[in-house]
Amino acid sequence: MIMCGITGYTGVNQAGPILLEGLKRLEYRGYDSAGIAIQSRNEADDMYSIKMLKATGKVSHLVDKFEAEPDFKGVCGIGHTRWATHGIPSDTNAHPHLSADGKFAVVHNGIIENFAEIRSELQKYGIEFKSETDTEVIVQLLAYNYNGNFKKALMKTISRLTGSYAIGVISAEHPGTIFAAKLSSPLLIGVGIGENYFASDITALVSNTKNVIDMDDGEVAEITPDEVKVYDHAGNEIKKEIRQINWDIAAAEKSGYEHFMMKEIMEQPQALKATIEPRIKDEEIVFGEIKDLDMSKFNRVHITACGSAYHAGCVGRGIIEALCRMPVEAEVASELRYRDPIMDGKTLVIVISQSGETADTIAAMKECKEKGATVLAIVNVVGSSIAKLADYCIYTWAGPEIAVATTKGYTTQVAVLAMFAVWAAGQLKTISHGAYASMVIDIMRLPERAQRALDLNSRVKKLADKYYDNQSLFFIGRNMDYAVALEGSLKLKEISYLHSEAYAAGELKHGTIALIEPGRLVVALCCYEKLFDKTVSNIQQVKARGARVLAVAHEGNRSIFQEADDVLLVPQTDPLLAPVIEIIPMQLFAYYVAEKNGCDIDKPKNLAKSVTVE
Ligand code: AGP
Repeated sequence: MIMCGITGYTGVNQAGPILLEGLKRLEYRGYDSAGIAIQSRNEADDMYSIKMLKATGKVSHLVDKFEAEPDFKGVCGIGHTRWATHGIPSDTNAHPHLSADGKFAVVHNGIIENFAEIRSELQKYGIEFKSETDTEVIVQLLAYNYNGNFKKALMKTISRLTGSYAIGVISAEHPGTIFAAKLSSPLLIGVGIGENYFASDITALVSNTKNVIDMDDGEVAEITPDEVKVYDHAGNEIKKEIRQINWDIAAAEKSGYEHFMMKEIMEQPQALKATIEPRIKDEEIVFGEIKDLDMSKFNRVHITACGSAYHAGCVGRGIIEALCRMPVEAEVASELRYRDPIMDGKTLVIVISQSGETADTIAAMKECKEKGATVLAIVNVVGSSIAKLADYCIYTWAGPEIAVATTKGYTTQVAVLAMFAVWAAGQLKTISHGAYASMVIDIMRLPERAQRALDLNSRVKKLADKYYDNQSLFFIGRNMDYAVALEGSLKLKEISYLHSEAYAAGELKHGTIALIEPGRLVVALCCYEKLFDKTVSNIQQVKARGARVLAVAHEGNRSIFQEADDVLLVPQTDPLLAPVIEIIPMQLFAYYVAEKNGCDIDKPKNLAKSVTVE
């Protein structure tokens, strides 16, 4: 997965402690297991073999195992921190992976999309696989292709792989040599004196060397203690520049951002890509994980979750209802679990959770299962409790989220819900071919549009400077915009501690408008164009009472400038998908308001990332 960490060392010093130190540096990215492999020399016959150590959980568990193995010695090795994607977190699924003949070991970041095809091909030749991972095919194929020439076998192997990878490989027959290769996953080579390194991330290198080579897609590096040779995709040696880095370790862990929240906001285009791309084949949505889910069995859908995941569910309700023409309810799990809800075998329950461990969500899903409902979970953390308890599970593949306030977790949940709605509508035949095709195109363009929404960064910062001292704010919107208002308001209050409320714009006049007074900031979400005029009249009502209005609307909307004090224009997309884009400036706004108010952005007071208690 994009968020795993890899590192490697070859030189004259013991590789074990250096690899473990590198893995500790990569811990900040989030992971669920770790492992190292070294080339170990047998004194008696001067032959080498590969030794491995793996541990589920923290790197410290791996360190304990290492310290208990005094014979784990060698001067060349590779290491990995894994964030599970294919197969649960376990010692068997943890990297490195070994070829069946024990001669090769690999660590890998990324996803091998054609792993199932390669795996069944190799199984026909009698090769046995130990893990559930996509990665194991790399090392098994490498051993199969090996004919005495390490480089040739590796080049042949990677030419078969589709998807993304940054890999490091060692062989028992080539002491001191590491091969590293990359496609659409980050990889750097660290250049030292009499020792060299590789890593997926600068953090694993900075304490050893400041000289790095940036690897490009399709390139392969041959790393020995005294030399680094880089080859192009055809195997020809090429010249690469050595770059000097001057980052300190703290900056490097957050890729130069001050907070994980900002890093994760900025990662959204990449996270959305990881969620969407592997699931669109030949302009069709393909969900391998729910291929036998028969939608005609159900007469209603019930969505349940907590906090932001519930807000994603509110967006999902709108999309599924619009496309599948089926009744959909969305309800917070803490209420649903005690309500004795009416449901049966004809109910599909969708539970949404980034962590997969939220206590209320787990209890609600158990309640629904007992009533005979089928449960489909949308989860980020692979192998988590919710993923395991559900009848079906779709992973968001957003990568680890560390900041308490969810950002990429939320947008990738909405993306999965949108893809699910289109997929289900296709199965139920409630969507025309034209509408299906156009939704798929718009879904595929979400990463690029998210990137353009991020370009509003400096403008949003200025608006936060202008409005940060408002002690009480309102977020208003209608239909999909109301769902975004809920999330925008929660984002602001949880990290800036300002009072903020979200209202369905039409509800204001039934009470809340009494709270509007001169200077009060009202954030108006105006991307749901069908009801734009209605929202404008609500804007006029609050303005007439002295409120200041910050509006978010689609690019090309000119009339909003006559209504609002400040306007943020986001790229236009299908109205059902607009929440993914529209929330981005709201996340940035919450971030900058919290920063201006001196709040602890990544760890807001009284909150935890994963709420495992009731
Ligand atoms: C959002 O920023 C919050 N941290 C919180 O509302 C969160 O979405 C909620 O606790 C649900 O968590 P989950 O997605 O891990 O189940």
